[in-house]
Amino acid sequence: MRAALIPAAGSGTRLGQGPKAFVEVAGVSLLARSVAALAPLVDEVLVALPAGMDLPPGLPVRAVEGGATRQESVARLLAATRADVVLVHDAARPFLPGGVVRALLAAVAETGAATVALPVADTLVRGEGDLWAGGVPREGLWAVQTPQAFRRELLWRAHAAAQAEGVSATDDAGLVARLGVPVRLVPGDARLFKVTTPGDLALAGALARVWDAEAR
Ligand code: C5P
Repeated sequence: MRAALIPAAGSGTRLGQGPKAFVEVAGVSLLARSVAALAPLVDEVLVALPAGMDLPPGLPVRAVEGGATRQESVARLLAATRADVVLVHDAARPFLPGGVVRALLAAVAETGAATVALPVADTLVRGEGDLWAGGVPREGLWAVQTPQAFRRELLWRAHAAAQAEGVSATDDAGLVARLGVPVRLVPGDARLFKVTTPGDLALAGALARVWDAEAR
């Protein structure tokens, strides 16, 4: 059995439009877009919501209350499912191609841990204030996206270890990698960008016009 776990309990401070998962792009919330992409490919969908927020009507999901951090929200989602394989996906990445999910599921069936990621295309540099302070070779570097998929028992162990050791991370693959377990990198998609700033929202609006017109 497979479950999709969607942390959607962020406050959306950088976007400035209230809880981000509920922000709409072309009339459909970021959360509803992520749910629609995942629901056909898993047995159940669980969503972590901000405290006091109700589940929007009509979504085929179970809701749990999120925590103070993304990591805590994912831990709560994990505690609420018995699925053998869990797929963790940020509500803030609303354009999720089915082919990417299928490739990720094939990878996790082989390895037990996999994440979607994109090879870095831009030149990278460290900055000190607004000054160029040294180039960073981009060879072998990937930008990590979601979804990420794991055998549930493995992700559970990774979260328990992180909590016991006071470690925090912005994603789950990082916590699993800390255990010394190999994590497979599965090529992602530029459309999977995370909606973070008002500029991202404008980009999402433009993409939605093409995305929503395609049969899926
Ligand atoms: O803030 P950021 O966009 O990096 O958050 C990534 C994802 O984690 C978002 O989908 C957000 O809703 C979720 N999150 C959460 N609980 C928190 C903070 C963030 O579920 N306390």
